[in-house]
Amino acid sequence: MNKIKVSQIPESTSEIVRIQNELKEKGYALSSDSALGIPPEMRQYLDNRFFTDHVLGPEIPGVSPIDRLRACDVVEFRRKKDQLELEEFPIVTLKPIKNMKEPREYKRVLTLEDPKFVNWIGTLFKMVPPDEQQTHGTLGFHFLRTFNDLVAYKHQDGEQYVIIYIAARETDGALTSLYPIDQPDTLLLEVAIQPGEYLIFRDRDFMHDASPLRPRFKGDKQYRDALITLVHYPTTYLTAPR
Ligand SMILES: [Fe+2]
Repeated sequence: MNKIKVSQIPESTSEIVRIQNELKEKGYALSSDSALGIPPEMRQYLDNRFFTDHVLGPEIPGVSPIDRLRACDVVEFRRKKDQLELEEFPIVTLKPIKNMKEPREYKRVLTLEDPKFVNWIGTLFKMVPPDEQQTHGTLGFHFLRTFNDLVAYKHQDGEQYVIIYIAARETDGALTSLYPIDQPDTLLLEVAIQPGEYLIFRDRDFMHDASPLRPRFKGDKQYRDALITLVHYPTTYLTAPR
């Protein structure tokens, strides 16, 4: 389990610079595989590889929409010049939330076993503005197949950055919204993120929520496959008491 993998951090392209600048100025940015120069096959590959009954497990009753499926991973990174050295973190357990007593333990998927995923991590890391990039930290990956309800109440994830990527979507609704942290009643952004698109935001600047899925046509079984990447603070895992 403790084998180090290496991900190349890509060169700065105009799209990467635009994302970094928008994050500095506004705290959020939208992008897409095509704008980033990522081949369209990658989205389908990620969907086929990770959003399966074999990989995904159940949600935790009483915490999240019960009919949603999830798998997660935590990866430790060390930046070495233009590369990230990556290692599976020993635990993926999350702190209890709301009135829970027990920590949250979701089914784990070892993302570093997948060379294409390893390669992709460098691009995700590069989106963070240079002066906010950590040299040693952890990233969380949550693969979520949702059929009905997303998290409809305004909240923060308590992390440095959140990157939402949609791998597949057969639904209406499912609008992701951001509200300024100092004006939580003001809707700043409302977007139906499409397959192959990204929304990245600095978590501490906003509250966020997402509206329920709605069938596009009567009788459809709607779903959305989202990969949520969390750029953790050191206190989330690295320096957290265990
Ligand atoms: Fe969230």
